[in-house]
Amino acid sequence: QMKGAIFDLDGVIVDTAKYHYLAWRSLASELGFDFTEADNERLKGVSRMRSLDILLEIGRLEFTDAEKLAMADKKNRLYVEYISRLDEAELLPGVRSYLNRLHDSGIGIALGSASKNALFILDKLNIAGLFDAVVDGNKVSRAKPDPEVFLIASQELGLQPGECVVFEDAEAGVAAGKAAGMRVIGIGRPEVLGEADIVISGLHEL
Ligand code: BG6
Ligand code: MG
Repeated sequence: QMKGAIFDLDGVIVDTAKYHYLAWRSLASELGFDFTEADNERLKGVSRMRSLDILLEIGRLEFTDAEKLAMADKKNRLYVEYISRLDEAELLPGVRSYLNRLHDSGIGIALGSASKNALFILDKLNIAGLFDAVVDGNKVSRAKPDPEVFLIASQELGLQPGECVVFEDAEAGVAAGKAAGMRVIGIGRPEVLGEADIVISGLHEL
């Protein structure tokens, strides 16, 4: 019996991967190399600084920590410009009705995301009020596949891990949910999310 539902944000509630991609690509192009959509797959679910490390690995470039912080900042400013234009129309199919259904059944709803922009995005999508707890990149010190983000979310809901179900689109996120002792619904392709208990293509399927 599910008492709490914990949602990843990027790729589950909204497709922000395309904006992360545009912002990282623009940084790569400034640094003089190509960054493809296939490369971008490696950044899904990964923190901002780790994403930058992967990007620079692809470009075979090395920088000091201070330079890297400045680059991550620059990428984020561009990303925030993109997401400041988000609105409800960009909610992925089925999200609002599923959240409403959970809410009406008294199930606790939490966000478990690596993003430091999570609250801003929930506001833009006009769904912040539906969440009983928001655990994002500002609250968490260990990135997925570490279970920390989901364990804090279940605590904030006042529930045991085993009473919670995680919704995730990234391999590292599925692993984090399993490591937390939760059931995991994978959103995407079974080839990538094999560790999940079930895999669906989106919340509209539920
Ligand atoms: C995750 C995304 O949700 O958040 C990653 O899947 C992103 O692609 C990470 O890098 C951190 O996001 P932000 O908004 O803090 O840069
Ligand atoms: Mg995701």
